[in-house]
Amino acid sequence: MGVDFGVDLNPEVPNAARIYDYILGGKNNYAADRATADKLLSLMPEVKAGALANRVFLRRAVRELAAAGVDQFLDIGSGLPTQENVHEVAHSVNPDARVVYVDYDQLVVAHGRALLEDDPRVRFAIGDVRRPAEILGAPEVAELIDFSRPVAVLMIALLHFVTDDEDPAGIIAAFRERMAPGSHLALTHVCHDGVDPELIRRGTALYDRASAPFTSRSEAQIAFFFDGFELLEPGLVEVSRWRPPLTAVDDAPPPAGKARMIGGVARLP
Ligand SMILES: C[S@@+](CC[C@H](N)C(=O)[O-])C[C@H]1O[C@@H](n2cnc3c(N)ncnc32)[C@H](O)[C@@H]1O
Repeated sequence: MGVDFGVDLNPEVPNAARIYDYILGGKNNYAADRATADKLLSLMPEVKAGALANRVFLRRAVRELAAAGVDQFLDIGSGLPTQENVHEVAHSVNPDARVVYVDYDQLVVAHGRALLEDDPRVRFAIGDVRRPAEILGAPEVAELIDFSRPVAVLMIALLHFVTDDEDPAGIIAAFRERMAPGSHLALTHVCHDGVDPELIRRGTALYDRASAPFTSRSEAQIAFFFDGFELLEPGLVEVSRWRPPLTAVDDAPPPAGKARMIGGVARLP
């Protein structure tokens, strides 16, 4: 483990990226990750549908932004490569689009680099969103992202791994200050409104021994992250409700009292 990046590579420490990979049906996970994920899913079965819908949201958001002319994407907390990654979706619309993935987990970055090393339009950088200046100054970012033009910054299922003390709003502001007018922020987050606080406490406690603690938030707290941006239609909504595609997906709202994954895409005026 390097000094700078705080993710323990020990397979016995449950890991946020690998837990999520397992929930999505991936193969890049270990027994400790699967055990934690299974406990979480038995406590909150809705997490699986939320994770799958979150990926669908990501694809829709990238497709719509690329179709609207955005041709550079900075995907922070990208996670392990899975199906239909951001660059694949962006390139299906604009083959010249540039994508920089950032994650603070060395395993994620190693996987990503192995998969993408030959593509000059895509880079994988190691970086911790809690240190925005390091991401903004990373050589991979400097190589592909031109901040004088509109860029889409993606923080998808990321900020619930940043505690209030670590100032997520200040982190977003640091990126916003570098973004040109016409840039976009796409963000999703677990929302706990209406959920039994004891259930939330038990669910988030599962991450206490994992690579990152988990902070669920209210819709009002998540809405505040879009400060300074203008939310595009339909606003901050259940991820499965954001501009549903023509093909059928599970758009049924979760029953009341369940954790929700909510998100939105916003434009910097
Ligand atoms: C739940 S996964 C989401 C992956 C992807 N964005 C998606 O929504 O499908 C969260 C990812 O955020 C990464 N992450 C957590 N805290 C981070 C931090 N402080 N800086 C950078 N990445 C972080 C984890 O390593 C993990 O890969």
